[in-house]
Amino acid sequence: MAFQHPSFGTVSDDRIIIFDTTLRDGEQSPGFSMNIEEKLRMAHALGELGVDVIEAGFPVASAGDFESVRRIAEHVRGPVICGLARSGGKRDIESAGEALRQAERKRIHNFISTSPLHMKYKLRMEPETVLEIIAEGNRKARQYTDDVEWSAEDGSRTEADFLCRCVEVAIRNGATTINIPDTVGFATPEEMRAIFTMLRERVPGADSVIFSAHNHNDLGLAVANTLASVEGGARQIECTINGIGERAGNAALEEIVMALKTRHDQFGRVTGIVTPKLLGMSRMLATITGFDVQPNKAIVGRNAFAHESGIHQDGVLKNAATYEIMTPESVGWTKTSLVLGKHSGRAAFRDKLAQLGYAELDDTALNAAFARFKDLADRKKDVFDDDIRALVDDESRDHERIRLIALELSSGTKQQAHAKLEITVDGAVQYVAVSGNGPVDAAFRAISQAFPHTAELALFSVANVTEGTDAQARTTVRLQENGKLVDGQGADADTVVSAVRAYIHALNKLLVKRDRAEPEALN
Ligand code: KIV
Ligand code: ZN
Repeated sequence: MAFQHPSFGTVSDDRIIIFDTTLRDGEQSPGFSMNIEEKLRMAHALGELGVDVIEAGFPVASAGDFESVRRIAEHVRGPVICGLARSGGKRDIESAGEALRQAERKRIHNFISTSPLHMKYKLRMEPETVLEIIAEGNRKARQYTDDVEWSAEDGSRTEADFLCRCVEVAIRNGATTINIPDTVGFATPEEMRAIFTMLRERVPGADSVIFSAHNHNDLGLAVANTLASVEGGARQIECTINGIGERAGNAALEEIVMALKTRHDQFGRVTGIVTPKLLGMSRMLATITGFDVQPNKAIVGRNAFAHESGIHQDGVLKNAATYEIMTPESVGWTKTSLVLGKHSGRAAFRDKLAQLGYAELDDTALNAAFARFKDLADRKKDVFDDDIRALVDDESRDHERIRLIALELSSGTKQQAHAKLEITVDGAVQYVAVSGNGPVDAAFRAISQAFPHTAELALFSVANVTEGTDAQARTTVRLQENGKLVDGQGADADTVVSAVRAYIHALNKLLVKRDRAEPEALN
């Protein structure tokens, strides 16, 4: 058995289409915003990971969103590139069509709310008007591409007869994928299974489209609901790396993929994901956004394959299958993470970067990262994979508007801390020298003097990247301005330098965010 897909042609019936929305639903949650270069890097890596569809953004939301979708459509080959649009938005569909113009394969994803609650209070529309908008939105989207997805926002809380009518109208007007989101993470697995089963049984034309699941994690059920949706007949899964997304997040890609793979006996479905790349992908997102996953996170958490109890360790040594349901290597964990030392050359460094998913660094970025690696290797005996990731991610931010050039500090028990800072703002050099209550305070005051702003410090946290007193520090700085939150990250063997890098990174993100209008009616 097989089904027809507008972009992929004939697809075998056991194949699940992985639709990644890290760059859209994931990125729009507080603190997870990424700049265009970061999104482009993520999109290339998602392509190599083997996702089928990348939802690259919401082009009408801001000039920055438009540009990142446009750049991804221009440069990333392999996956279908998708742009989000409101079915009834004034310029949404045109904007998505324009941003996607250069994509090898493109999809427009249009959506409108269909639940009584959303129609009455959010849209203030009658159901008949919503039906008209669905028809118009899908017809319009088909003018740009044959691959059109329609979503019933708050679909899981939509009255069954009305949901059937909406889906029927969407199909009749050209939608080729029908997505039923559990927008507020309220549904249970049984309910999601039943919704898809019902739609496939009742809606005329249902066998000509692909049904899609999109579950939020407010009750911790996103992955379970997604797997139940597959049992109900969904053939596309919408998910994000590390499960990032609005509020409690979306269903985690790595968990769904490994559940389908490990329990093939139960689900009988396959994906195109190259599973040994899962850990690298998770780490790349964590270093870009500054949010590490919790240690006990399934698949990619630091403890996911760690066996602490003696009984378990003994069992694993005798036969790993006693306590491991999948091999660590199958999701990207390698036996040793010790990588390079101060005598390692540029070729070894380049090879290591390729292994870690940074194959596309240009020569300038490679040279800068190599110089920082040499500097780190001089100060630190062992350089681990995580050290390399931290410094390359840090280095790749150097195209930003505010850049750290130099920092000198003096502090101690008998003197007030003093910071001398040199930064550039849009290329113009600024020098300041400031005292403070400790070296971090002095350095942060210096930044505020060199680049005056009204953002307030909302969070400051420091963690070590690896073990030992010579480990690099990874700092997260959260800034808040007019209700907008941004998180910046920095890494360095010197804790204060890492804090300064994080502060500057957060300010750069804030500058990107200032031009972004918050899209209404979007989840
Ligand atoms: O959660 C949701 O309903 C969404 C839609 C826009 C697909 O993200
Ligand atoms: Zn969503």
